[in-house]
Amino acid sequence: FIILISLGIEGTAEKTGVGIVDDEGNILSSVGNQLFPKEGGIHPREAAEHHAYWIPKLIPQAVEEAGIDLTDVDFISFSQGPGLGPALRTVATAARTLSLSLKIPIVGVNHCIGHVEIGKLDTGAINPVSLYVSGGNSQVIAFESGRYRIFGETLDIAVGNCFDHFGRETGLGHPGGPVIEKLALNGSYVDLPYSVKGMDFSFSGLLSAALRAFKRGVPIEDICFSLQETAFGMLVEVTERALAHTDKNEVLLCGGVSANSRLREMLKIMADEHYANFYMPNMKYCGDNGAMIAWLGQLTNKYFGTVDIKDTHIIQRYR
Ligand code: KG4
Repeated sequence: FIILISLGIEGTAEKTGVGIVDDEGNILSSVGNQLFPKEGGIHPREAAEHHAYWIPKLIPQAVEEAGIDLTDVDFISFSQGPGLGPALRTVATAARTLSLSLKIPIVGVNHCIGHVEIGKLDTGAINPVSLYVSGGNSQVIAFESGRYRIFGETLDIAVGNCFDHFGRETGLGHPGGPVIEKLALNGSYVDLPYSVKGMDFSFSGLLSAALRAFKRGVPIEDICFSLQETAFGMLVEVTERALAHTDKNEVLLCGGVSANSRLREMLKIMADEHYANFYMPNMKYCGDNGAMIAWLGQLTNKYFGTVDIKDTHIIQRYR
């Protein structure tokens, strides 16, 4: 067989990962490590130092888990952005070093589209409207008229960041999302600002209002419940409008906030009302991971021919 092997490096925020994926979408390995800040949020320099420490350890681990040699790798894919500057530089430097020393090509890919494409690979969705929600990004994305387009996004902070910031300020700890989800189960609705502008949403006003409510002594369970209902209502509204506009019949949820059951439930109800299928990848591929970068590198090569086929190795393997 001629199989192209892509080694992908991710590290746009506090997580770094290395994944190995072949040109048919077989995920041969995906390993990673996460930085847990001691206090406050993620510091870009700390993230860069974390990645610089971990990437050289994760590469041999990913290669071993894949059952290949490092010399079997045909090209390096890396997350080019968006992300924290110092973290991105670390990833790019690692990718470039590896490509120069192995004398193989390098492909830079978009982190957000990586989430969408691994979601499609893992679920079998073909052409979805995707809601990508994490600590750093909140976007509604769909492939339309020959390219990926962002139909709506946050005008300020990401929804995960809104939850994490609220969690830190109120002593719930970091990350706030999972704790907010638990507390919300025993809460009831209090009024918080709902802000959709055109096809975009905004979470900073919602965060300030939630923090003010906390200072006024409104029960934390009620604030958590209302934070979720309001933020998710905004996300679902824009996803629904993108679905209607593009006339697609699939909805894909991805990114770390997909762990939230209430968000999944709301999105599924909306998808059902439009006779659209609802998909969500395995949690392993919802958060940042190296496999999604390796896979998007493969697709980039397939559609844009980035990698010179003459450079590739012929690998004998039984599948
Ligand atoms: O994609 P991800 O793993 O990495 C970053 O973007 O950093 O997403 C992490 C985000 C955090 O903001 C976290 O609070 C949020 O996902 N999150 C949740 C839940 N689990 C994680 N948000 C709401 N409900 C959850 N159960």
